[in-house]
Amino acid sequence: MASEALQQLILDTLERQDTIRDTRSLILPNQSEPATSHDSQITILGALNSLLSRDMIKYDSHEIFSYILSPEGAQIAKEGSHEARVWAALPAKGQGAPMTPAQLKKEVGDTTAKIGQGNAFKQKWIVKEGDGLVKAVGSIKDATQLDLQEVELTGDLKSGEKVLADLRKRKLVVQRKGQWFTVHRGVNFSTSIAKLETDLTAEMIASGTWKTSTFKKYNFEAEGIPPAGGALHPLLKVREEIRNIFLEMGFAEMPTSSFVESAFWCFDALFVPQQHPARDLQDTFYISDPVKSLPPEPSYYKRVSTVHEHGGYGSTGYRAPWSHEESSKLLLRTHTTASSTFMLYKLAARCRGEEVEGDENEFTHGAKATTNLGETSANDGFRPAKLFSIDRVFRNETMDATHLAEFHQVEGVVADRGLTLADLIGFMRVFFKKMGIEKVRFKPAYNPYTEPSLEIFAFHPMLNKWVEVGNSGMFRPEMLEPMGFPKDVRVHGWGLSLERPTMIRLAPFNSCISFTKPIFFHLSYGINNIRTLLGHKVSIEGIENSAAVMF
Ligand code: PHE
Repeated sequence: MASEALQQLILDTLERQDTIRDTRSLILPNQSEPATSHDSQITILGALNSLLSRDMIKYDSHEIFSYILSPEGAQIAKEGSHEARVWAALPAKGQGAPMTPAQLKKEVGDTTAKIGQGNAFKQKWIVKEGDGLVKAVGSIKDATQLDLQEVELTGDLKSGEKVLADLRKRKLVVQRKGQWFTVHRGVNFSTSIAKLETDLTAEMIASGTWKTSTFKKYNFEAEGIPPAGGALHPLLKVREEIRNIFLEMGFAEMPTSSFVESAFWCFDALFVPQQHPARDLQDTFYISDPVKSLPPEPSYYKRVSTVHEHGGYGSTGYRAPWSHEESSKLLLRTHTTASSTFMLYKLAARCRGEEVEGDENEFTHGAKATTNLGETSANDGFRPAKLFSIDRVFRNETMDATHLAEFHQVEGVVADRGLTLADLIGFMRVFFKKMGIEKVRFKPAYNPYTEPSLEIFAFHPMLNKWVEVGNSGMFRPEMLEPMGFPKDVRVHGWGLSLERPTMIRLAPFNSCISFTKPIFFHLSYGINNIRTLLGHKVSIEGIENSAAVMF
């Protein structure tokens, strides 16, 4: 039935009689009987809601309970009760041979024979004759069938609750909650249904028809279409997992928002010689405007320039002239160790005797850092700290399949008294184990700011080979002592690329084929295409489909 015809019927009825007291009295279009059934009330409700949304009507709903037939009840309504079927199958008394129970079973089926026989005896419809059964009466009134037919038709039973309760107990009928409605005219009542506009258009505004148009109400309850975008990039997922590992190990996150750093914080403070090739234009992006950074705190600056030029703290230094210009250049940080260095300098503030307030959370995330020897062993203001960061770095690389000009570094530093290389190695093993990498190996390496330095290799079971995953070391006294750290304080630090473990982790997942291929190439043949992971060649579909759990 067209819902418009029904809406029209409701409006016309209201026009005639003001109120529709009971929607069960309506005779729906193309029907001859009043709409007493559950289904017709559902149809009416649809039409009422549609009219209500235009304020053409108002309605109240009333609850009723009606009854419907169970599948067994429906069968009885159609074919008669079991006892009636048994009665019908038997010969009349004196006409033909009595029917044996076995024959009856064959005739009406097991269930009907079983249930029907007992009931038919109770009703005195059948009697035994010899070994068999015959009809006891010439005609019967199958009350169950008649009752069920009435329920089927009206949803109710005139003979009352008791019989209904019995039918429910016999699982022939089920109760169903229903509704009917009382309908009144609404503020916009009219017998003609205006077409509702869904959008305000430029034409309506130009022609002025918007003034007389009726607009469809917004349905703020509607669920809406799920947005197609918004998937997290695999790098972000892995970053979150690594961040959680650090947090559960008691690390505090360092602020790393300064992409632009001075050469002082990126290199000099780390005892990277001013002539180091990494500082060349070919390797580092320098900022042209502004050209110079603000000067660091003068006495620290002096200690750093002195250790470079002349040595100190047991070091001979580089014995090369110090360039203030070189030190004050601005650049895009080439490693997050620039941020770590600045944080270590801040951590050493109390050791320099500076008054510091409110920096507890910065270094501890509110939790107490664990310590080997403890801060109480000397009254020099030192507090142990465990810090990490995961953020972007920039290098002036020629972009190709294996190099990007910007990527992410995962970095950590641990500062405590008397730390040894064994602490660094032990920590690495735990950390990588938490990332699902069990086999790690260390190889001596060189960094200007750490001694000893170790490259970290992890065994990749799928590739069956050792893969470099990070770089680490114990920061040199030439870096730590000018900051003001006591001599027995050791700081170990380490860094790895975020892209590398992300690619390793993505490898097993078939769902992101575009990511898996380059990993194999990268790690086994050295022709990785890192650009499929980061940059404009990234496949959106690959990102949407990449697995959520990495470690
Ligand atoms: N900064 C190093 C890099 O860019 C990583 C590192 C950090 C090494 C801290 C040692 C200590 O590879």
